[in-house]
Amino acid sequence: MTRQVLTDSFGRRIDYLRLSVTDRCDLRCRYCLPKGFKGFEEPAHWLTVDEVARLVQAFTLLGVSHVRLTGGEPLVRRDLPLLARRLASLPGIEDLALSSNCTRMETLAEPLFRAGVRRLNVSLDSLRPRIFEQVTGGSLELVLRGIEAARRAGFSPIRVNTVVMRGVNDGEIESILEFCAERDFTLRLIETMPMGRTGQAVLAEYIDLQEVKQRLERRFELIPDILPGGGPARYFRLSASATRIGFITPISQHFCATCNRVRLGVDGTLHLCLGQENRYPLGALLRAGLTDDELIDQLRAAMALKPEQHGFRERPTQVPRFMAMTGG
Ligand code: GTP
Ligand code: 5AD
Ligand code: SF4
Repeated sequence: MTRQVLTDSFGRRIDYLRLSVTDRCDLRCRYCLPKGFKGFEEPAHWLTVDEVARLVQAFTLLGVSHVRLTGGEPLVRRDLPLLARRLASLPGIEDLALSSNCTRMETLAEPLFRAGVRRLNVSLDSLRPRIFEQVTGGSLELVLRGIEAARRAGFSPIRVNTVVMRGVNDGEIESILEFCAERDFTLRLIETMPMGRTGQAVLAEYIDLQEVKQRLERRFELIPDILPGGGPARYFRLSASATRIGFITPISQHFCATCNRVRLGVDGTLHLCLGQENRYPLGALLRAGLTDDELIDQLRAAMALKPEQHGFRERPTQVPRFMAMTGG
């Protein structure tokens, strides 16, 4: 049998699925969820473990081999270890990764690692407790304990995501880099994206990461490097060390031409681009009783809706969704 692949109308091969297992979160990062937000998806609409496994299996039959579990905060979903185990056991899944804020990692690191999750990306915007609290509403100490638990459990690689905000944490980049280097983590700096009114508000603190890169280049030689994962970060090795740094620059230097991914929301809505509203109701179709063959046809049909690129620069107010709805 020839191996089937999923391609969009711009010839891009889609082999990476980001799976938002919940839209809820226990933090309220200022660029993501507004305080007091009430508009979460109804539990009756959440895909069950069986439904998710069926959808992911259909994706694997079309060559999708990377799955990243996202949220909201994925660890607030109680059956996450069970779901992870189901997905890890699907033939064709080569890479099961997780993006988490690590608030609940102390208790969940071992069960998730045992379930087969290996790569971990953790959000960490500040190492100063008060700033961390101002940005996320949460406790830095709890998150640091969670990160340590993940390291002990064996997650590797661990990558730290820092959304860089002018006047908030841009002065801390060197110290976060040092924190990462000491632990063999890779730091990835991220430009703020105008997702929802929260993301649009932080555009006032947007920093073009080319500026930060130039600042770092005064201290380090940055040698281009390639790391596994297939995500949008551009990586560099710091000269004379094994430390790596990644830049995720959707605004100043977007990476849409090499986009390899789509996103599944907690209700089974397929989002075809982070920065556009194009979507396809896969969950509803699944619940209407599609056969496996029909499901595969629907996945192919959905790809025709994938746009060429985001419009964050041209139309910064066009995406009303908060980042938590698609998990980044
Ligand atoms: P790996 O490369 O697999 O480690 O993952 P990743 O960097 O794609 O995942 P992560 O969840 O850590 O996301 C890091 C940042 O990249 C977040 O701010 C995401 O919103 C952003 N990001 C991930 N994929 C895309 C994408 O396709 N488009 C845009 N514009 N941003 C993305
Ligand atoms: N812009 C850029 N990155 C964001 N994230 C959440 N919201 C935004 C935004 N508006 C990041 C988080 C997390 C990752 C999955 O997405 O910091 O690390
Ligand atoms: Fe892909 Fe859209 Fe992200 Fe661009 S913004 S890389 S097209 S998901």
